[in-house]
Amino acid sequence: MLDLVTDKVQDETRQGEAFSPFANDPNDYRKRFYIESYGCQMNFADSEIVASILNKEGFGATRNVEEADLIFVNTCSIREKAEQTVRKRLTEFRKLKEKKPGTLVGVLGCMAERLKSKFLEEEKLVDLVVGPDAYRTLPALVTDAEGGQKAVNVLLSRDETYADISPVRLDSNGISAFVSIMRGCNNMCSFCVVPFTRGRERSRDVDSIVNECTELFNSGYREVTLLGQNVDSYYFNDEKNNTIITFASLLERVAMVSPLLRVRFSTSHPKDITDDVLHTMAKYENICRYIHLPLQSGSTRVLQLMNRTYTREWYKAKVDRIREIMPDCGISSDIIAGFCTEEENDHKATLDVMEYSRYDMSYMFFYSERPGTLAQRRYKDDIPEDIKKRRLVEIIELQNKLSLDSNKKDLGKIFKVLIEGESKRNSDNWMGRNSQNKVIVFPKGNLNYKKGEYVTVKVNDCTQATLLGEIVEM
Ligand code: SAH
Ligand code: SF4
Ligand code: F3S
Repeated sequence: MLDLVTDKVQDETRQGEAFSPFANDPNDYRKRFYIESYGCQMNFADSEIVASILNKEGFGATRNVEEADLIFVNTCSIREKAEQTVRKRLTEFRKLKEKKPGTLVGVLGCMAERLKSKFLEEEKLVDLVVGPDAYRTLPALVTDAEGGQKAVNVLLSRDETYADISPVRLDSNGISAFVSIMRGCNNMCSFCVVPFTRGRERSRDVDSIVNECTELFNSGYREVTLLGQNVDSYYFNDEKNNTIITFASLLERVAMVSPLLRVRFSTSHPKDITDDVLHTMAKYENICRYIHLPLQSGSTRVLQLMNRTYTREWYKAKVDRIREIMPDCGISSDIIAGFCTEEENDHKATLDVMEYSRYDMSYMFFYSERPGTLAQRRYKDDIPEDIKKRRLVEIIELQNKLSLDSNKKDLGKIFKVLIEGESKRNSDNWMGRNSQNKVIVFPKGNLNYKKGEYVTVKVNDCTQATLLGEIVEM
């Protein structure tokens, strides 16, 4: 409960109309693979690249781990708990392997990168260890592993972006897709393991991004989320046209694919999001009015130790600027409780900036020391766990209140909503989102709308997490 984020497997949803990597007839493929993803959206996007690479080599995906010849776990190292979850899962796969000798287990992603061949010593039944920049070599590594060799490739690259690989959509609703626009991170926030597991920052070729978005639109998708650890530092030298593509110009290119294609992005670093980006968002109705702007801490002293390179005032001014340019923009955040040396007044400063920013939503964590990071090398993880957890509870309680306040403000308002599918709780209801990324549930009624269509919905009621409404014909 306390670790509130995506350290869990994404729900399995139905396939869209696009090409399916799942085999109906097992004889269509020489081997079947099962892949499970943990961590951030970028890991989920990478699993779709892995699936594409394996598909080309004659491997078919399966959702049933028991019938898989190859089991892959795409792992996350961001907090200790994320790693523990993966280890527990590997124990379960070990049992499967004992029942069905010959099954290969591969560890992909950030834990593979962090632990490298140590993984093979620690987890004897793992056969492959493959880091995030080495997925092209997976088929060859599988052959090595089949021949009884231990297969490891954790080389990081300065230029790999998998630009030419069309991801195959794994657990997609057929409406929303992730599109990776850059890899790695150069920021070196002192608490963070990502620069070590994902390597140097590099941006993907603009044409390959726009082409992927166009293809998605043509196969029925209506929303793309452009992904990177720090999307605002996207920078591509488009030599063909002799221009530099910034994140603002990329957003514009993607928004122009079709006015019916919604564009989202994640994550923005407060230091890098420019007025140019904000003005581009304001100019295009289909670029969603929603920014994930992680605060981490509201104390300038702690922010400095975290190496976030902004102060609390600077952050607050950024929030003001967003609201000035787009008064209806949703804002969400990530917050860490109990970072090294954090005192009660630092914690209060965090609560204070949360109130000021009126976040619609936040991902909230207590600090988890990660081996090899700057913070682990320089500072003592000196806040006792009970204090970290108490502060986190206070942060969560405040966010719950802010989320409810924000939803209450929407009562009576009318929003354009993209229908994403049926509500999980009640198939008589549709579920979708407004531009601000808020989930809205509303009765289908006897109107013949389909998923992927836009409807106008009036909000009549809300909970802290969801708006409830009804379709209004405009
Ligand atoms: N690139 C994104 C965040 C990536 S990690 C950004 O810069 O905003 C997602 C979130 O995990 C971070 O924003 C941070 O809040 C949290 N996180 C990262 N390292 C952590 C650690 N060691 N302990 C607790 N939370 C952490
Ligand atoms: Fe980690 Fe900071 Fe990079 Fe985000 S910007 S991935 S928190 S180092
Ligand atoms: Fe986790 Fe790696 Fe993403 S550490 S949060 S999967 S970049």
